[in-house]
Amino acid sequence: MNGLPKPSVLEDKTLSLLREGYLFLPQRLAQREPPIWRTRLMLRDVVCLAGPEAAELFYAGDTVTRRGAMPGTTLRLLQDKHSVQQLDGTAHRRRKAMFVRMLVDHPTSVDDLLLRFRDAWIRRLPQWEQRGQVRLSEVAETTLTEAALSWAGLPATRHAVMRDARALSGMVANAGRFGPQTALALLRRSRMEKRLRGEITALRAGRRAVREGAPIADIASHRDCDGRELPASVAAVELLNVVRPIVAVARYVTFAGLMLHHKPAWRERFADGSREGLSQFAEEVRRFSPFFPFIGGVLTREAEIYGHRLERGQWLLFDLYGTCHDPRWFSEPQDFRPERDLSWQKDKSRFVPQGGGDATQSHRCPGEKVTVALIAEAVRLMTHEMTFDVPAQNLEVPLATVPTGPASGLLLDNIRRR
Ligand code: HEM
Repeated sequence: MNGLPKPSVLEDKTLSLLREGYLFLPQRLAQREPPIWRTRLMLRDVVCLAGPEAAELFYAGDTVTRRGAMPGTTLRLLQDKHSVQQLDGTAHRRRKAMFVRMLVDHPTSVDDLLLRFRDAWIRRLPQWEQRGQVRLSEVAETTLTEAALSWAGLPATRHAVMRDARALSGMVANAGRFGPQTALALLRRSRMEKRLRGEITALRAGRRAVREGAPIADIASHRDCDGRELPASVAAVELLNVVRPIVAVARYVTFAGLMLHHKPAWRERFADGSREGLSQFAEEVRRFSPFFPFIGGVLTREAEIYGHRLERGQWLLFDLYGTCHDPRWFSEPQDFRPERDLSWQKDKSRFVPQGGGDATQSHRCPGEKVTVALIAEAVRLMTHEMTFDVPAQNLEVPLATVPTGPASGLLLDNIRRR
C-alpha cells in the first residue's frame, strides 16, 4: 500500500480538460493498470479513477461526499445547495427515499409520465408534418417539458412549456461552461425557482389543488429527519431536480434517433410496434452516448483504492464515460450493440452512465427507470408512429464539448404519421 506522489501546481491540466472534454480522463486512465491517476485541475490536487472498484468507493457507504466536489456554477445549475445530492448519511437516505418512492417504487407514476409524453408527441405530429423539417433535440425537449410539468403538477400551458423548456434545457447545456450564456441560464433558473416556490407555498396554503400523488404534492409534504417540512426554497430545488433531468432525457432521445439513422436495421425491427428489445436499445444508448463525463467527490475519511492509500479531504473524480467505454469492462466498447442486454437493475459497478451502487443507499441516480422508459418510448414513437428522412447535415458529435450531441441537433424531414 502506498501513496500517489502529489503533483506540483505547474502540472495543472485544466487547459487539457477544457480542450479534450469527454476524452480527457479516458485517454489517461485507459493506459493505466489499475486505472488511477493523480493530477491538478483548477490548481486543486485531484485523484482520477475509473472502473468497478472506483464505483464501489463512490457508491458504498458514506466515504465520499459530494459537498465541495463541483465548481459553483455547475452545482447551481444542476443539483444546487441543500439538494439531496449535497446531503450525507441518514439525512441523505431520508430525503432520497422520497425520490425513490416517486420515481422507482410507485406502481403507476412512471406509466403516467409516459402517457403524458406520448400524448404530447402524438398531438404535435401534424404540426411537424406541416413544418416539413424539425430538429429532434428541440421537439424532444418541448414534448418532455410538457410531460414533466403536467406530471409534476405544474402549469403546462403553451406559454409555460415554451418558457420552461428554454430554462430547463439551458441549465443542462451550460453546466459545463462559463460565460454570458451561463449567466443567462442562472438568471432563468432563479426565475423558475421563484415560480416554483410560489407554487409550493400556494399548495401548502390550500390555494391550489393538484391530483393525489403528483410529485409537487409529495415534495411539498415531505418531512426531513427533523420532522419538519422542507423550506419552500429547498422544496423548489428538489422539484427542479425532478423536472430538469426529465427534460435532459431529450439528449438521449436525440442520440437514440442518431443510432436509428446509423443502424437502420433497428428502425425496421421496431416498426411493427413490437416492444421486444426496446429497453436493451435504450440501455445501450445510455452506455454509448456521451452525457455525464465524470462525477466529483471528496473523501470523508482515509480510504484505500487500487492499492493506494488516500487521505481524508482528497478530491476525487470518477470517470463515468470512460468506465462505460473501456474494453476492460465492455468488449469492443466503440460498437453500438443492444445485444449486450444491459440493465440498470443488474449492474452496480460497471455500467455507470448515471452512477453505480444502490440508489436507495447512495447518490446513484434515482431516475434510471424513468430515463430508460422515456428513451424506449421515444424510439417506439419514432419507429412505429411515424416515418421520417434524415437530410444531409453535420451529424458529428464533438467530444471536446460538454455536454454534447450531434452538431445539427438531428434534423428530420418528410415526417409522416403512420
Ligand atoms: C443523480 C445522471 C436522469 C434525478 C445522478 C447522478 C448522475 C445522474 C451521474 C449521480 C450523481 C452522483 O454520483 O453524485 C443522470 C443522467 C440522466 C439523469 C445522465 C439522463 C437524463 C434523471 C432523472 C431524474 C434524476 C430522469 C428524476 C426524474 C436525479 C437526482 C439525483 C441524481 C435527484 C441525486 C441523487 C442523490 O444524490 O442521491 N443523475 N440523471 N436524474 N439524478 Fe440523475
